[in-house]
Amino acid sequence: MFKIRSILKRITKPFLNAGLKFYYRKPRKYSYQDIEVLVHPEVFPPHLTLSTKILLDFISEIDLQNKTFLELGCGSGIISLFASKKGATVTASDINRTALEYLGKASENNNLKVDCIYSNLFENLKGKQFDYIIINPPYYPKKPKNTKEQAWFCGEKFEYYENLSKQLPKFLSEENQTFMILSEDCNIQKITSIASENNIHF
Ligand SMILES: C[S@@+](CC[C@H](N)C(=O)[O-])C[C@H]1O[C@@H](n2cnc3c(N)ncnc32)[C@H](O)[C@@H]1O
Repeated sequence: MFKIRSILKRITKPFLNAGLKFYYRKPRKYSYQDIEVLVHPEVFPPHLTLSTKILLDFISEIDLQNKTFLELGCGSGIISLFASKKGATVTASDINRTALEYLGKASENNNLKVDCIYSNLFENLKGKQFDYIIINPPYYPKKPKNTKEQAWFCGEKFEYYENLSKQLPKFLSEENQTFMILSEDCNIQKITSIASENNIHF
């Protein structure tokens, strides 16, 4: 049974990949409640991956009124816009300039204020502290070849998590809660051990 499934997967994967490439050849709309963003092909697509929607549903339950909120690696920025709608003072950062440009437009179109900052992790956020930090990180260990791949790959030696764990503590307000989503197919053991070496515990 397992063998049949794996053969089927091998046969269908190229078709699926070609289909996805075709679908994402141009900017595509994505919406949550009444918020809409346009997702450029160079930006992490929230449509088929579950992580963005899980985070949106998760923060819908949190009282964000008058809280400072950072979406570290904002991609389309739909989470940041939703947090702004819920009354938070929102910073959205990313290393992808196209993502930030499109989020700037979405912020205007949705009439929701978000401070968009180009930053490699916390590099350009010095001096700020946040009550909530939300992270949907790049999951897999491989060197990203370009900006788009930075949404998926954290470096061969998990450098993203090394740097994140070292930088994070300075940016936490007293009441901070930081939430990071991971997938079952991530090396969760490795990621948690990098964090705990830096005194961060999930
Ligand atoms: C998995 S995507 C998540 C996007 C968005 N938060 C969401 O949930 O839809 C990861 C995002 O992190 C950004 N990213 C990757 N490495 C980064 C770094 N070193 N500094 C800032 N952003 C980074 C990527 O460009 C991408 O937009």
